[in-house]
Amino acid sequence: MRYLTFALAKGRLAKKTLALLEQIGITCEEMKDPDTRKLIFVNEELKMKFFLSKATDVPTYVEYGAADIGVVGKDTILEEGRNLYEVMDLGFGKCRMCVCGPASARELLKKNEIIRVASKYPVIAKDYFNNRKHQTVEIIKLNGSVELAPIVGLSEVIVDIVETGSTLRENGLEVLEEVCPLSARMVVNQVSLKMENERIHKLLEDLNRLIKEENK
Ligand code: PRP
Repeated sequence: MRYLTFALAKGRLAKKTLALLEQIGITCEEMKDPDTRKLIFVNEELKMKFFLSKATDVPTYVEYGAADIGVVGKDTILEEGRNLYEVMDLGFGKCRMCVCGPASARELLKKNEIIRVASKYPVIAKDYFNNRKHQTVEIIKLNGSVELAPIVGLSEVIVDIVETGSTLRENGLEVLEEVCPLSARMVVNQVSLKMENERIHKLLEDLNRLIKEENK
């Protein structure tokens, strides 16, 4: 049997994913050692491998088949636009992609003004303004702490992830429009889904059953 390889987005999503997999009998003891510098972990019994990568790289590993299965946020899936199958909403990591800014920017979104939009997600931001709102905007790509942009005058609004809303509140900003809901998703390589159909379907069935139980 060949190995089934999982790519997990480092951080909270990976922790929650491993906890979920553990509940359906998929464990990886090696991975639990907090001091390890290893990058890839193996469960020989199950013939499975696991690795952690930067969230934005997960769709890349999966598209090329270096990983059969990935777990990553919907935000990254949309932004990266890779060829892969999104097979399941895992139901955690729930948040929203929103247009945010100071209350005074609300006006600018109504009129068809050319405004500047800062975001870590230029593809999502461009798609939202061009194709859904039909508003011409200038997108400015940032790499983090995007909330700074409207405060220091780099842009009028931002497109960013809102979870609790506390980052916005503490910086005098608010949600102006919602772009889409987000959560952790399971993605599968297109060839793997055919070649490893049985194993992957069993995994999806087990996960679906577990998630249903939990939501009862
Ligand atoms: C994310 C997001 C917001 C914040 C939202 O940032 O970009 O800044 O979390 O969460 P809240 O609504 O609960 O306050 P992250 O912590 O990933 O850091 P970054 O902005 O530097 O990428």
